[in-house]
Amino acid sequence: MVQKVAVIGAGVCGLISIKACLDEGLEPTCFESSHEIGGLWRFKDEPEPGRANIYQSVVINSSKEMMSLSDFPAPAELPNNMHHSEVLLYLRLYAQAFRLPQHIHFKTSVVSVRQTPDFAATGQWEVETERRDGRRQTAVFDAVMVCSGHFTKPHLPLRNFPGIESFKGRYFHSWDYRNAEGLQGKRVVVIGIGNSGGDIAVDISRVAEKVFLSTRSGAWVVSRLGQGGLPADLVGTSRVDAMMQRLFPSWINRMVEKKLDEAFDHRLYGLKPKHGYFAQIPLVNDDLPARIISGRVQVKPNVKEFCGSTVVLVDGTIIDKVDIVVFSTGYNYSFPFLPSALQAQRGEQLRLYKHVFPPALTKPTLAVVGFIQSFGAINPLAEMQARWVTRVFKGLTTLPSEETMMKEIEKDTAAIHPRKCNPHQVNYIPYLDSLAEQVGVKPNILWLLLTDPRLALQVLLGPCTSYQYRLTGPGQWAGARQAILTQWQRVHQPFRTRVVPEPETRPSSRRSIIVIVSCAALLCSFFSPLAFFRPPQ
Ligand SMILES: Cc1cc2nc3c(=O)[nH]c(=O)nc-3n(C[C@H](O)[C@H](O)[C@H](O)COP(=O)(O)OP(=O)(O)OC[C@H]3O[C@@H](n4cnc5c(N)ncnc54)[C@H](O)[C@@H]3O)c2cc1C
Ligand SMILES: *[C@@H]1O[C@H](CO)[C@@H](O)[C@H](O)[C@H]1NC(C)=O
Ligand SMILES: *[C@@H]1O[C@H](CO)[C@@H](O)[C@H](O)[C@H]1NC(C)=O
Repeated sequence: MVQKVAVIGAGVCGLISIKACLDEGLEPTCFESSHEIGGLWRFKDEPEPGRANIYQSVVINSSKEMMSLSDFPAPAELPNNMHHSEVLLYLRLYAQAFRLPQHIHFKTSVVSVRQTPDFAATGQWEVETERRDGRRQTAVFDAVMVCSGHFTKPHLPLRNFPGIESFKGRYFHSWDYRNAEGLQGKRVVVIGIGNSGGDIAVDISRVAEKVFLSTRSGAWVVSRLGQGGLPADLVGTSRVDAMMQRLFPSWINRMVEKKLDEAFDHRLYGLKPKHGYFAQIPLVNDDLPARIISGRVQVKPNVKEFCGSTVVLVDGTIIDKVDIVVFSTGYNYSFPFLPSALQAQRGEQLRLYKHVFPPALTKPTLAVVGFIQSFGAINPLAEMQARWVTRVFKGLTTLPSEETMMKEIEKDTAAIHPRKCNPHQVNYIPYLDSLAEQVGVKPNILWLLLTDPRLALQVLLGPCTSYQYRLTGPGQWAGARQAILTQWQRVHQPFRTRVVPEPETRPSSRRSIIVIVSCAALLCSFFSPLAFFRPPQ
């Protein structure tokens, strides 16, 4: 029987894992190496080794309602796309509401996780921790949830950049970037066009002489603002939209790309990637096109080599007098505390069943939470993982055989989805639903249509917010229905900073009446017999 669970890390994923354990009557003990909760959302003035870091200007790329946890909607007055400090505020409110901090040992790092000698029988783990003062301790746990984040190790592929040792300026990884201070009037090259690369290029371009954004692959750029200025991830992300996408993938893909090119032509702007829109997480950036049209940012191809302070690009062009290079070249994950058998082997990806369970364990008592990427917010996905994990720990849900799991992992990787670039990428609603089915909390839409049509329409046609997974089953929350029916109110609330009264009659309809009447008058006068008897001038 699993009772005591070790949770490693108190970022978003750690917090929701503690909560999931409590909900299932398990005893969580969380170890957090820093002095506070929040993980990457806790902004640090100086980057801390072994942890995720963010820059000052980070604004979340998924909207408030989509990133809210399923039984804790973010307060209505918070903006739709929160600053990182507001995300941290939300997490603090969440932790307080469910009394999570009392289960956390701060300033305590997990240094190793080993199977106990009688693991085959008990599935237990020895977890060794180290406190700030160097004191080490080992304790036995029935299960382990790994929530240590995966943006921890900056990937700096200097070998791909010959001549970098001769570079006269300064270079650093986006992990080290805080703000544009000290970059006034500089000539800056940003390499890589992930979400961080785009943000950092825009940030620096406000003070630098010029920013060159070098990209091998290009990217689709989407705005946070959708139709009518509503959060883009709330529009076109319903269950019906997902169904359409499954039925007509290439048609929907073409439609989305056409729409994006209407905002600005990706080819003209030098951004157009080879891959289709759904193959890779897009760049969420509202400012980049405007920085390009004003010439503050220039999009460039891949870098071939460095030569003194000159950067040579693969198309033969050069950028001279470069002062600063920012490598926005991504991250490598690492779980240094896990036994080597559970680590990714050299050159291979870590293989996890549904991105959570290592398939080869004789007892499923170790799980990784939050190790995914998606077109939507990570929080609801990670929360569903944690709910599923605790059910598996308790034996209420079982995993298939190792062979079946391996097969499914194979199916999940590139072979089946040749257009999918990232092996950790999941399909938002299908992934949520597949785990929800295991937990027993997938909303039954037919039943809802019969019993509560108003709610059913929101679930079907509205954004797929996480509250949908609290309507029934284990972990059911009485406030879920109301949370769904009021989600648009919480979206509108932060906009109400200057109330503009609604016009009495809609001007557009009045205008169209005037147009119709005048057209009718014109037609009448044209065809009127009187016209033929017009007196000569
Ligand atoms: C710049 C940036 C912007 C992002 N923006 C978004 C966004 O807009 N929307 C979105 O959904 N996602 C976004 N993400 C993804 C983000 O990673 C996830 O949303 C989520 O916050 C990850 O939480 P986590 O708990 O997995 O990891 P983290 O937040 O990294 O937390 C891990 C915690 O574990 C602790 N820890 C690590 N190792 C140990 C150890 N050995 N012992 C004890 N404690 C340990 C760390 O101190 C840390 O507190 C962004 C990521 C980055 C880098
Ligand atoms: C490290 O990460 C980069 C980019 O994120 C990737 O291309 C590379 O293969 C990774 N290396 C390893 C050893 O996983
Ligand atoms: C938001 O940005 C983070 C960090 O770059 C990325 O991992 C995530 O996939 C992005 N989310 C969306 C919805 O694009």
